[in-house]
Amino acid sequence: MIFVLTLAGCGKEEIVSNVGKLEFVQPLKIPELIEPTIEPDGTKNFILTMQDGKTELLPDKIADTRGINGSYLGPTIRVSRGDKVSFNVVNQLNEDSTLHWHGMLLPAVMDGGPHQMIKAGEMWTPHWTIDQPSATTWYHPHLHGKTAEHVYSGLAGMFIIDDEDSKKLPSNYGVDDIPLIIQDKLFTEDGQLTMDDEGIFGTLGDEILVNGTYDPYLEVTANQVRFRLLNGSNARAYNFGFSDERSFQLVGNDAGLLNEPVTVERIMLSPGERAEIVVEFEPGDEIILHSYKGNAGLDNGEFELLKIVAASELTDSAPIEGQLSTVPPIEVPEDARVRQFKLTMENKINDKLMDMYRIDEVVPAGTTEIWEINNFGWSHNFHIHNAAFRVLDINGKEPSVYERGRKDTVFVPNGAKVRIVVEFGDYADPDFPLMYHCHLLLHEDQGMMGQFLLVEPGTESDVPTTLPNNSGDNEHSDHH
Ligand code: C2O
Ligand code: CU
Ligand code: CU
Repeated sequence: MIFVLTLAGCGKEEIVSNVGKLEFVQPLKIPELIEPTIEPDGTKNFILTMQDGKTELLPDKIADTRGINGSYLGPTIRVSRGDKVSFNVVNQLNEDSTLHWHGMLLPAVMDGGPHQMIKAGEMWTPHWTIDQPSATTWYHPHLHGKTAEHVYSGLAGMFIIDDEDSKKLPSNYGVDDIPLIIQDKLFTEDGQLTMDDEGIFGTLGDEILVNGTYDPYLEVTANQVRFRLLNGSNARAYNFGFSDERSFQLVGNDAGLLNEPVTVERIMLSPGERAEIVVEFEPGDEIILHSYKGNAGLDNGEFELLKIVAASELTDSAPIEGQLSTVPPIEVPEDARVRQFKLTMENKINDKLMDMYRIDEVVPAGTTEIWEINNFGWSHNFHIHNAAFRVLDINGKEPSVYERGRKDTVFVPNGAKVRIVVEFGDYADPDFPLMYHCHLLLHEDQGMMGQFLLVEPGTESDVPTTLPNNSGDNEHSDHH
């Protein structure tokens, strides 16, 4: 039976709005691009330091925040397919954390999930070769039970992967290729960040930060601008569109570019999802990136996000048309294995809460499966590590035009059945699990998460379904 839930009586009915309240006077901060050092074998090495800081989020008010190589958010990492990368992730927080590469295909032990703990004062040194299509991915902590708090305080950053296809699009970072990390916040009177875990979804803020900037504007100087939208919020979903109702081109979903651009006026992103869009400007245009109210419960707000002002003269770039990605869409294999995932009112998956020492699924590495997600609870979403998927259908119908590309996170409306065809990464590891979970961070922290192993095909029944209780200790952590 399908429960159709309304939020009446939950006190969450009122529309939260900042419309008309902003002056758009703060230049949008653009996270800096981090420069790697090049090791003798060509590996690009990046140093990321997780640290406490103080940040003027609201004007003239100083908030206690956290950031990576700074006081709020982290630098943008940008590499190309084929690059070898390594990281020195230094935890200078006064508590343990982890750093997860959301959207990355890599060996499970490098994933930065709850099993790759970085103790306070220690360093973690993951490394891998970038081998996946161009995409806008991101990184954030994934400490079990603490992800909401760590991300909310500012620990997150963008991770861009380029390839030959992505270079056909505007790519001049900070000029015609602009990251937009959208986060809603609740502030105290004196400008400190505060969380609210009373509601069903966790913290839903009434103010918006874009790249950590309150009340932001951006001047653009090109007639075609690529925006990389990242919903880095704990729970809020956004229905993006522009104040003048102009259409724009969607060119990429979470896990890669579309085969061809599609023209849209609205796209919805739930927490963790990304989209790449290209917007065309005329000289002197002034428009506001808006989020419209929806009826999913976690998009109960109407927000002005960013004012964009086009210069009086714009550099010309070629219109975006024709083929973008040369990667074929993920197809359903004839004998595809089907797995079922039931989301319930208690925020459980298949009637279980997350257990760090239990393996829920064993998947042959490099295979493609159908995962069916049946939601008997509130609005949720579903994210899978080390995988890319295509949404086959939602309640038997084709997904919206803006969610038909390669993805790693999908919105799952209440009462809905969502079927996805999932291509798993090639790296097998019988010892370290990967995660699938709701990316509403309160739900994830409450245990709405399961673990799967990617193993050599044919060895599925050889691996244990429990993990030794010391596996939370990360053997790759360097003490110093
Ligand atoms: Cu963005 Cu498992 O996480
Ligand atoms: Cu992830
Ligand atoms: Cu959820």
